[in-house]
Amino acid sequence: MATIATSYPKSIRRLDESVVSRINAGEVIHRPVNVVKELIENSLDANSTTVEITVKDGGMKSIVIQDNGCGIRKEDLEIVCERFTTSKLREFDDLLEIQTYGFRGEALAAISHISFVTIVTKTSEQMCGYKLQFTDGKPKGKAVPMAANNGTVITVDNLFHNLSQRKNALNSYSHEYNLILDVITKYAINNSNKSSFSLKKFGENYDLNTNIENTIIENIRGLYGPNIANNLVELSFEDLNGLKFSMSGFSSNQTLHQKNFVFILFINNRLVECPALKKAVDLVYSNYLLKSCHPFVYLNVKIDSKNIDVNVHPTKNEVHFLHEQEICEKVVQIVESKLTDGRETRRLNTESSPLINTVFNQISNPSIGESPNQKSSQSSSTSKEGNQTNSDRSYKAPNKETTPRRPDKQIRTDSKDRKIYEYLLNAKKVDKNRRDMNLTSVSALRRTVAEESDNRLQDIICKSTYVGCADETFVLFQFETQLLLVNGYNLNVELFYQLFLVDFSNFQRIKFSKPLLIADLVNVYLEEDVGKTQPSADCQSSQTLSATEIETILMSKSEMLSDYFSIDISSEKELKSLPIILDGFVPNYAFLPQLVYSLAKDVNWNQEKECFESIGKVLANFYAKPPNKFTNNLEHQKWAKTVET
Ligand SMILES: Nc1ncnc2c1ncn2[C@@H]1O[C@H](COP(=O)(O)OP(=O)(O)OP(=O)(O)O)[C@@H](O)[C@H]1O
Ligand SMILES: [Mg+2]
Repeated sequence: MATIATSYPKSIRRLDESVVSRINAGEVIHRPVNVVKELIENSLDANSTTVEITVKDGGMKSIVIQDNGCGIRKEDLEIVCERFTTSKLREFDDLLEIQTYGFRGEALAAISHISFVTIVTKTSEQMCGYKLQFTDGKPKGKAVPMAANNGTVITVDNLFHNLSQRKNALNSYSHEYNLILDVITKYAINNSNKSSFSLKKFGENYDLNTNIENTIIENIRGLYGPNIANNLVELSFEDLNGLKFSMSGFSSNQTLHQKNFVFILFINNRLVECPALKKAVDLVYSNYLLKSCHPFVYLNVKIDSKNIDVNVHPTKNEVHFLHEQEICEKVVQIVESKLTDGRETRRLNTESSPLINTVFNQISNPSIGESPNQKSSQSSSTSKEGNQTNSDRSYKAPNKETTPRRPDKQIRTDSKDRKIYEYLLNAKKVDKNRRDMNLTSVSALRRTVAEESDNRLQDIICKSTYVGCADETFVLFQFETQLLLVNGYNLNVELFYQLFLVDFSNFQRIKFSKPLLIADLVNVYLEEDVGKTQPSADCQSSQTLSATEIETILMSKSEMLSDYFSIDISSEKELKSLPIILDGFVPNYAFLPQLVYSLAKDVNWNQEKECFESIGKVLANFYAKPPNKFTNNLEHQKWAKTVET
């Protein structure tokens, strides 16, 4: 689109060398982590066995990397930050056989155009080390002799001091630091047994510190935790004739369920990204893992260097190679075959606890408003389809509907299987409209729970594996080598009470299709429960209140009951809704009469803290009640039916 103003072409001029270098530097170095990656790779190319990194302000203020590699000869030092100066490549064809990370002679030049670089280096032949500072690719003065260890220390100060837009566009220091930690973690794993790595912030303790003796698994354990390390299968494959590639690594089994997808891919020892392969691997796992859970996968792929082009991206985090699609398909196949190999875990069918059953159901199908029966029928239909052989499935289109699992119907006999707390953590739902309730009384109650919790017991519960129900009250947990008989009812009461405190005033509602008259509920309770049995443990004093008294108390508190606890009471004195304390969990309505009575009778309405505490306890007792099949009382069952239909 020509305009009058541009009708005359502007003259074409050669850009100034410094402008070219700075533009180029911006392409090679996007953020501090790119500097760290380039410097680590230089250290590894120099055959270093220890690489120590120290960082200030997420790498923006300073990055120091010290290695014990071959060092830089004094006569080469002055040109080391000039563009296209390298000790690694001589001819273009050398790229066909390239074994080093570096080959362009560009990284240090790029870094020195956007920061202040200081190098202290000593080779084993030199008597002393030399120090030289650089800006814009050029040395500042002459190299100064100084005492130094064999190896190189490179300091990069004030990154992007002359690229203010880039500097301003970066995230917080901690975000940048985490990216650095992530990259070093991956290099540490891939270089297990070859080099040790450490990372820390200036003046602080190490966030990462590996030992050169460590195996890959030991490094994974130290860096990603024992849960991942204990749930890995080893991958190994070699095709030297057809696709000419080999692969080693580790991938998680079906029992590791974690939120973050860790995918570490090294091709010919280069940390690269391959989104298509990553997605394909994740899709394979989605057939075997719970919804929103992802695997841990570390792949070290070696491709004939003649078939790979490493010179594709300025940051070197991409490579192109021959037979790319076939190799990716093969990799996915290997990962999947290992994944299904591990399915020999013994699983028994059994009835599980109602609460745990609900949590399982909710995780495999988190929608609310569906009856548990609907969910069961859905789950069993998917199990049938799940009998399809794995080899039938192409990696490109694994079908989520064919998930062959029904965790709520399984006993886990493998101690490495999922632990109880994982289900509870996963059960938590994020609600954008959540109200922040900062009442001192509620905070005090939450604090009390935290203070009274017993670390040892908490640890046992977290690390236990649910085995099955012993009877309507007791459940069996496996903790390490011990089988524990736990009062499931008490545990459920505590769980509901704590959930009540956590979600205080943020409950969604279970709305009854037909509101229930409070007076009717109370009368049933008075006739059936108080008349025939001892006062229940939930009702603390023996003095009986009449239906009218209960109505009066609840009506006078109806506004608060509705606002904080989602218990709606109409002006016609009818109960219209109850709170959802655990998503997808439907309480046993047979105990509604007792709940309504207790809400009025057993709550201390005079003191705020005591009031909330007692409402929480009353609700928790109600929600923890066993389902109908465990209750013989026919009248109870009738009430359950009235509400459910
Ligand atoms: N830590 C180090 N120990 C020894 N020599 C080093 C170190 N860092 C850099 N060098 C030397 O400096 C040269 C230039 O490094 P630079 O990273 O700029 O280029 P490169 O590694 O050759 O290629 P690329 O730009 O692809 O990384 C290297 O070829 C190497 O000889
Ligand atoms: Mg380099």
